Amino acid sequence: MSILSLLAAISCLLSGVLGQSHVQPQGTLHRRAYFYVGQTYIAQGNSSIAAGQMYIEHLTPAAVTQPFPILFIHGLGMTGTNFLNTPDGRLGWADYFLSKGYELYIVDQPSRARSPWQPTVDGVLVATDTFTTELHFTAVERFKFWPQAVLHTQWPGNGSVGDPTFDKFYASMVPSLNSTTEQSIKIKNAGSQLLDQIGPVILMSHSQSGPFGWILADSRPKQVKAIVALEPSGPPFINAVFPPFTPNRTFGLTDIPIAYDPPITNASEIGRVVVSEIPGVTCFQQTEPARKLINLVDIPVLAVTSEASYHAQYDNCSVGYLRQAGVSVEHIRLADVGIHGNGHMFFMEKNGIQIADQVIRPWISKIRK
Ligand SMILES: *[C@@H]1O[C@H](CO)[C@@H](O)[C@H](O)[C@H]1NC(C)=O
Ligand SMILES: *[C@@H]1O[C@H](CO)[C@@H](O)[C@H](O)[C@H]1NC(C)=O
Ligand SMILES: *[C@@H]1O[C@H](CO)[C@@H](O)[C@H](O)[C@H]1NC(C)=O
Ligand SMILES: *[C@@H]1O[C@H](CO)[C@@H](O)[C@H](O)[C@H]1NC(C)=O
Ligand SMILES: *[C@@H]1O[C@H](CO)[C@@H](O)[C@H](O)[C@H]1NC(C)=O
Ligand SMILES: *[C@@H]1O[C@H](CO)[C@@H](O)[C@H](O)[C@H]1NC(C)=O
Repeated sequence: MSILSLLAAISCLLSGVLGQSHVQPQGTLHRRAYFYVGQTYIAQGNSSIAAGQMYIEHLTPAAVTQPFPILFIHGLGMTGTNFLNTPDGRLGWADYFLSKGYELYIVDQPSRARSPWQPTVDGVLVATDTFTTELHFTAVERFKFWPQAVLHTQWPGNGSVGDPTFDKFYASMVPSLNSTTEQSIKIKNAGSQLLDQIGPVILMSHSQSGPFGWILADSRPKQVKAIVALEPSGPPFINAVFPPFTPNRTFGLTDIPIAYDPPITNASEIGRVVVSEIPGVTCFQQTEPARKLINLVDIPVLAVTSEASYHAQYDNCSVGYLRQAGVSVEHIRLADVGIHGNGHMFFMEKNGIQIADQVIRPWISKIRK
């Protein structure tokens, strides 16, 4: 046996042990850079400060083999670290997609983490507390707040305070702007400028940033080749699962205006009707004839929903809304393709690489033109 094949055998053995048959245990060789987009100078006495800028981490593999980069946008309380390594120290989706030849851009949303929050300019920040984090994301099986929660098995550790993986994950969380409307406006501004610089891209959104994916694609439709929406915030018009069931996402799936055809000048012009109802989820669609989300109709969307997340309760409603508005959406429920036990943070759970490899990459690899 040659040294090389011996090394290859050891590497296979190690990756088998680590349960990551597609990511080299030592990671993927790449170059890292960072930059900012979107700042404006704000007068401050006889000087100025910059506000509104967004941090972008740019990772380029030694060999780029894919036509479009992936732009990752994290969710509420989170930062770009979500996609780097996992809280328990395994390699994450960034390494996986680098190993498949994708160039990556990973942001920290404006006013959060390495994107500065300016106390004299930006709105109030709020923290996501440990109870909310356990209840929504990491220990859902203990609270059983929705029926599918009992199926959650893929979070590493018990998902609660005191568990080393939870503690590391929670330590990585940061305060977010309290106003989703303010966050939407800021990411639309910085994100549109980013897309002008780096597009076209495949946009990967998660949770809170699901709506930001629709907003950015609406703003720069030619710069977004496809959207992978990992459990995007929904459902249309109203809060679900977690009371109070008050209005939300006034423009259907977004908090700020997005283009409809025929056009609207006020969100109240979007007619709505209840099409299904289960405890905690009222599902609205538009009254027919439905207006089209005209700038999104040529952009393929993959929506991904895990088995045990609260999104299992309503992602079908958001998908129905998009389809009715003319958007081509493929909706994959992980359980339907044999991937069980995941919650909302599935990309960092025990089988996260399997999901990237069996679900996400096969879909995005078809985006060629
Ligand atoms: C700007 O104002 C500060 C405080 O009022 C003062 O100390 C500083 O010298 C001023 N700088 C200039 C360039 O005028
Ligand atoms: C989770 O595990 C930690 C560490 O073992 C322990 O301190 C804590 O009580 C556990 N929490 C629950 C809810 O089981
Ligand atoms: C956050 O916004 C909600 C309304 O959406 C408001 O009730 C709450 O007081 C705000 N929190 C802070 C800390 O301003
Ligand atoms: C709107 O919904 C999102 C999650 O879907 C939630 O984080 C946010 O707090 C809600 N906003 C209001 C004002 O209820
Ligand atoms: C939109 O319409 C509603 C209901 O008719 C009204 O209360 C609101 O002021 C309007 N908003 C704008 C920005 O015109
Ligand atoms: C969404 O799925 C639920 C079951 O979880 C079902 O009751 C409801 O009818 C579905 N709604 C739509 C609009 O497909």
